[in-house]
Amino acid sequence: MLTAYDATMAHILDAAGLDVLLVGDSLGMVVLGEDTTLPVTMEMMIHHCRAVANGAARALVIADLPFLTYQTGVADAIRNAGRLIQLGRASAVKLEGGARCSAVVRALVEAGIPVMGHIGLMPQHVHKIGGFRPVGKEDAEAEQLIADAHAIQNAGAFALVVECVPAALAARITRELSIPTIGIGSGPHCDGQVLVSYDAFGLYQGAVPRFVKRYAELGDLMASAARAYIDEVQRGVFPAEQPLAASKETVSAGR
Ligand code: KIV
Repeated sequence: MLTAYDATMAHILDAAGLDVLLVGDSLGMVVLGEDTTLPVTMEMMIHHCRAVANGAARALVIADLPFLTYQTGVADAIRNAGRLIQLGRASAVKLEGGARCSAVVRALVEAGIPVMGHIGLMPQHVHKIGGFRPVGKEDAEAEQLIADAHAIQNAGAFALVVECVPAALAARITRELSIPTIGIGSGPHCDGQVLVSYDAFGLYQGAVPRFVKRYAELGDLMASAARAYIDEVQRGVFPAEQPLAASKETVSAGR
């Protein structure tokens, strides 16, 4: 599973074989330049989710419920998750929270909306936890996370993201649950893994969590392509004189 935020990225990742594309509210940070995920709205999520759904032929598309769109009660949660499914064309939603969210998870599932849970580091709680920091190192916190994982499973979630918890704790949660766990910064023992694609591909230019592996440096590649373009335009190398037939082909590409 990787995050995607637009149709082109979704098309590439889907064709590469990703099982799941997450339209994460991380889009607030990596696409929209905010310093947390908190400013992300339903309108932003629907806009990006629909683009991802348009680009994905095969992968499951899951959309994050943004901050305060489900914590305010079951009716709000159903209405907002329904909009992500109807207007954003997601097939499932993800929400951050443990046992306290189990009534909301149960209501969404009963309404026919598949739910992925998310425990551990929950970026929507950044102010409560005092920054983006690992959780579950203390015994009490670890016990709470185990109880949260069971509560979300029992409420009917089909999978659970486990973010930034110690590997041994993620392994225990994975062993105890029957639904798949998807780890991020939680070691190798989860059933699946997720990363923010802009982090993994070297696109995001801000600080990236230490656990991220950079599979490419697309930011550097784009900068050098941009420099080559500037250079060729300034030297008059691009565009070259083109025969009429070639420009007709361009028109037939639809732009
Ligand atoms: O918003 C997001 O991208 C996420 C993933 C990091 C799991 O929630």
